Amino acid sequence: MRYTPTSASNHPREDAVVPSDPLEISDLIVDYDIATLRPRPVSRSAVVARLEANGQRSAARLVQGLPASNDTLDSEACGAALLRSHIELQRLSEEFLQADRLRAVLVPLLQALRDSGVKPPLRVVDVGCGLGYAVRALAAHGRLGRDVELIGCDMNVTLIEGARRLAEEESLTCELKVANAFQLQQPGHVFISTGVMHHFRGDDLNAFFAGQRPGYAFVHYDIQRSVVAPLGSWLFHQARMREPLARHDGVVSARRVHSTQTLLSAARSASGFTCASLDGARSFIGVILRPMTATLGARAELWEPLLRRLGPLRSRLGPTR
Ligand SMILES: C[S@@+](CC[C@H](N)C(=O)[O-])C[C@H]1O[C@@H](n2cnc3c(N)ncnc32)[C@H](O)[C@@H]1O
Repeated sequence: MRYTPTSASNHPREDAVVPSDPLEISDLIVDYDIATLRPRPVSRSAVVARLEANGQRSAARLVQGLPASNDTLDSEACGAALLRSHIELQRLSEEFLQADRLRAVLVPLLQALRDSGVKPPLRVVDVGCGLGYAVRALAAHGRLGRDVELIGCDMNVTLIEGARRLAEEESLTCELKVANAFQLQQPGHVFISTGVMHHFRGDDLNAFFAGQRPGYAFVHYDIQRSVVAPLGSWLFHQARMREPLARHDGVVSARRVHSTQTLLSAARSASGFTCASLDGARSFIGVILRPMTATLGARAELWEPLLRRLGPLRSRLGPTR
């Protein structure tokens, strides 16, 4: 699926991809009508041809092996493969302490919102929450405050159904919605995400940040871009993942991650917020020590209160300009 918060279809267009840009299978095998979020039929041969044209023969073989009738991919089988992949993806989130990373920034950020008189409840919206790991972990251990509502959004019904089951098992106080995170009736105050930004390319990355203008701030984590990231990702996926789709997309993700410069430029121009990277690597050793980096943004008037609340974390911020 191609993530376009604004356009009518989110499926890849023939003219939209730079040939050298590797493609993730998970982006191609499902498609939704962005207005109704109803799944749309996906042609297996078109996806296979697209991957082959992009030089991704093993990915093309993998998709060729997915069940289809009259060339339309079986949406249940694709949903099941995505679900298995996201179950495995949770291992990566646990290993890389994604919820702790988010919490470390959310606590001062929410405090800055309170300092600035923003009225509760403070809604934290996870964009593309998948199985809802971040939202569930924050609901279980985040202690963000009783005035905070945690909302995980994903356009994929199978993933949200799984996320809800997991949240119910632990009686967690969080909402998990099949929804476009940028079209909620009550917009989020703070938008968060993990491992999502690299799915948005070009204009879609701008639309991703523009969709957050009604909010007050955002914290988006993704893999740190570096020459060693794909190798690190490959090692991790060999060791911890078994689902072929997860293994393929995990390594491709590490090759697709945006540079700090690309993220900051899109974030600043499309959201209008003051933005900086958190844990952006400044040296080769930084790349090894900090496999994840965040793009942090807040309305200009919130930036100073946020810096005051960030305390020692402040030294891990890159420049705002
Ligand atoms: C890589 S997956 C989710 C990963 C998840 N954050 C994790 O860490 O496990 C990306 C998800 O983003 C969802 N997505 C993309 N754009 C979205 C939007 N505007 N609103 C809600 N979900 C969106 C897709 O449906 C997809 O399931």
